[in-house]
Amino acid sequence: MKGLVLSGGSGTRLRPITHTSAKQLVPVANRPVLFYGLESIAEAGITEVGIVVGETAAEIREAVGDGSRFGLDVTYIEQEKPLGLAHGVLLAREFLGDDDFTMYLGDNFIVDGIKPFVDEFRESRPDAQILLTRVMDPRAFGVAELGSDGQVVGLQEKPEFPKSDLALVGVYFFTPAIHEAVRRLKPSGRGELEITDAIQSLIDDGRTIGSAEITGYWKDTGNVSDMLEVNRQVLEGVEPLMEGSVDEASEIIGRVTVGRGTVVRNCRIIGPAVIGADCELTDTYIGPFTSVADGCRIVSSEIEFSIVLGEASVEGVDRVQSSLIGRRATVSGTRRVPNSNRLVLGDHSSVHIQV
Ligand code: DAU
Repeated sequence: MKGLVLSGGSGTRLRPITHTSAKQLVPVANRPVLFYGLESIAEAGITEVGIVVGETAAEIREAVGDGSRFGLDVTYIEQEKPLGLAHGVLLAREFLGDDDFTMYLGDNFIVDGIKPFVDEFRESRPDAQILLTRVMDPRAFGVAELGSDGQVVGLQEKPEFPKSDLALVGVYFFTPAIHEAVRRLKPSGRGELEITDAIQSLIDDGRTIGSAEITGYWKDTGNVSDMLEVNRQVLEGVEPLMEGSVDEASEIIGRVTVGRGTVVRNCRIIGPAVIGADCELTDTYIGPFTSVADGCRIVSSEIEFSIVLGEASVEGVDRVQSSLIGRRATVSGTRRVPNSNRLVLGDHSSVHIQV
């Protein structure tokens, strides 16, 4: 069995992380979301993986390399334009050969990995297998309709009037039967070759489609609460690791990792929390469920239940909570007259000020 990871798409703005970057590299507990996907593929015993890359190919290649550090043998497949998920399958036809494969959307995160689903697919081997999860607003997803016996009877891509709250998760299991269905596809209303339509055509042909419902699912929708929640869930499993230097005045409580080159002075850090490499933390409190990426500077501040991306700086801010601070952002507390807030915010930013 092979893996096909879709990591193309345009370098659209990640709301509210307002920088242009591959969305598959959004960090969860300081690691790109794509890495968890690659690890879960390796954990399921799959080693040959094709990665479809687009506009952000250079960034993805630099982050993943040849895949050997994940125990994978990675082949890159260039997609000039994001013409749809099924277009990715078309392009990968030669790489996939006549093998079964799992297709994994690189911006999806499944808390407990995919091994049990790969095992189940290998055992029962329906023509295709999908994963479903219940969501609040199914209109942003592919949506499945199940029959009374739990069989998948219909699928629709981002319907205006969803027939259920069961969204298609971005992990699929296919036999080579999908290739014929993909070849027959016409572009959808949004101009893409939809994998949802390809699976629907398998249903129309009377093929068997297996399904399993999962919990513990996240996808980058630009929703900060979701991101904080998935960060929290991953931090729950973090193991303590001290690679930086911590002075005697500091107190580290619970499961905390501190990266190489990081200097901690007169701080109180309560885990679970991860602090990246080459950070400077001085006179600061870091509370539970906080991820601080590499190269951050946090001085005389209090932060908890938050995500701070690389090289950001926070200084003199009494309490930062439930926040997402972007790469190289600076947050500073000042006392001045008149008592006003001075803000320089990027596009799509959102700020909540204590009044
Ligand atoms: O995340 C689950 C959803 O993913 C499913 O519920 C939908 O049925 C499915 O169509 C898909 O919807 P999205 O519109 O959210 O997919 P998105 O455009 O975000 O692409 C998903 C991943 O695939 C992302 O990592 C970018 C990559 N991609 C996307 C397209 C359209 C490619 O590599 N090539 C492409 O042409």
